[in-house]
Amino acid sequence: MKHLLSAADLSFHEIIEILDLAEEMHTVQSRPIKKLPALRGKTIINMFFEDSTRTRTSFELAGKWLSADTLNISGKGSAVSKGESMKDTMLTLDSMGVDAFIIRHSGSGSVHQAASWVKASVLNAGDGAHEHPTQALLDAFAMRRHFREQGVGDLDGRTILIAGDLAHSRVVRSNVLLLHTLGATVQLCAPPTLLPAGVQYWGAEVLDDFDAAIEGADAVMMLRVQKERMSSAFFPSEREYIDGWGLTPQRITTMKPTAAICHPGPMNRGLEISSAAADAANSLVLDQVSAGVAVRMSVLYLMLGGEGEK
Ligand code: CP
Repeated sequence: MKHLLSAADLSFHEIIEILDLAEEMHTVQSRPIKKLPALRGKTIINMFFEDSTRTRTSFELAGKWLSADTLNISGKGSAVSKGESMKDTMLTLDSMGVDAFIIRHSGSGSVHQAASWVKASVLNAGDGAHEHPTQALLDAFAMRRHFREQGVGDLDGRTILIAGDLAHSRVVRSNVLLLHTLGATVQLCAPPTLLPAGVQYWGAEVLDDFDAAIEGADAVMMLRVQKERMSSAFFPSEREYIDGWGLTPQRITTMKPTAAICHPGPMNRGLEISSAAADAANSLVLDQVSAGVAVRMSVLYLMLGGEGEK
């Protein structure tokens, strides 16, 4: 695997290889000394042209714990702020002998374009409202663990409900692709104004009745209302959004006893997800964050590491 740009790049066997190796990497997180020599001598640049807490930090930790040299570049503080193009910036850094770029950018498709410019590997850390493949991998990791602990099987055959602001989400596209590859049924539920164009062609079930969908789901993944990407009103008021589409304390009582609550973060507590849901015993929100480091260690190792170096 040279690049990881889309969840569609991954076959069933590649996903399972990443998730299984991530289980081993997860044990490193609880060790007193969190260091493996696998990527010694490799250089990874985190290029985040959009803000991030979870993805940037976990990629950086993943690289460091695998002994790679990791650097952080953002638009502010680099020559991009003086007008240098993204292409010239990437070519400049690539010519220094970098092994991988991890890129987040507001432009959908920008990370794919970047991969065509450089010799190094490129990982998509979120491009606009397009894709966020490692988020889908870490979500799958957290849900797979939960289902196994609950004794309800694997992701194959499970029903995953994804609800909220789907129109502005890169997480939903990557999750639909990845979960389909793993054999799960994906259901999507959102106000009509927050459904992405062409969603009927994604192969997911698009449902109107949020309350009925919650009752049948093995996991309910709530997505953030992305106010910063909204140039006009997509729903009448926050009160009406909560009533129709929020994972309220009442709604979580109707979930299957073995079902999980997910949210990729950052959360709007009290809007798409109540604190009762975010902090519930069956909430995987922090498990997803923890899984992010293990899954990104696994991906970096498989992309940049060598046999027997683990
Ligand atoms: N889930 C996610 O991508 O979070 P960050 O924006 O904090 O990286």
